[in-house]
Amino acid sequence: MAAGLPRHVACVMDGNGRWAEQRGRERTEGHRVGEGSVVDVIETSYACGVKWLTLYAFSTENWTRPDEEVAFLMGLVQRALRKHAASLHLRGIRCRFLGGEDGRIPPSLARDIADIVELTSGNTRMTLTVAFDHGGRDAIVHAARALVREGVPEDAVTEEALAARFQYPDTPDIDLVIRTSGEQRVSNFMLWQVAYAEWMFPPTLWPDFRAEEYRACLEEYRRRKRRYGGLDRIDEMEMI
Ligand code: FPP
Repeated sequence: MAAGLPRHVACVMDGNGRWAEQRGRERTEGHRVGEGSVVDVIETSYACGVKWLTLYAFSTENWTRPDEEVAFLMGLVQRALRKHAASLHLRGIRCRFLGGEDGRIPPSLARDIADIVELTSGNTRMTLTVAFDHGGRDAIVHAARALVREGVPEDAVTEEALAARFQYPDTPDIDLVIRTSGEQRVSNFMLWQVAYAEWMFPPTLWPDFRAEEYRACLEEYRRRKRRYGGLDRIDEMEMI
């Protein structure tokens, strides 16, 4: 499915709590089962040839959730990192964590994150970005602060100059955002990078969003692109 494949896909993994509540279980159980969907989406992206995949795992707003839920999510991600680091590296997947610029991530998890980022930094097959303690506005504020810190003159403050000061300036714009659970909101997710993205809102709750449905979204993206008469978006914009 290489032709018409989005270069950069992002998932807003929503609905874990509702999935658990519908089954009379603790909300954290939804996060735990949701890890299986994370694995499915990474493996399917890898198999299909998606080069950039970003997963929204924890927002700057998520710190306001109950302490036990926050601690559970920190632990879940830490265990997942330890469990999957070697196989991600073996497959040539570069792992990055977007966010965490205010030093709120617990030190032992921050160390594990730094380790996997370092271990996989030379990989080129696919880039997996985990947005973790990420907020779109927060990222823009940090980039703006860098401009000020560097004394960039007003005339030199351009879109390119700001974008160059994001945490990972080489990240291409997002082509497709999939937000599960039927909620149709942006929720402060990578505001700069979604400027031209296609959005899909499957009603499926994240723990039930598995390989087959993800593949269907990639197919749907290809059909949407075909409505541009065979031209990709850049060509289309250049014609206007
Ligand atoms: C949103 O559902 C989901 C989250 C806040 C956490 C997502 C995290 C994972 C799936 C953990 C695995 C991640 C990695 C990278 C291993 P919600 O709790 O807001 O659900 P609700 O809207 O139904 O309450």
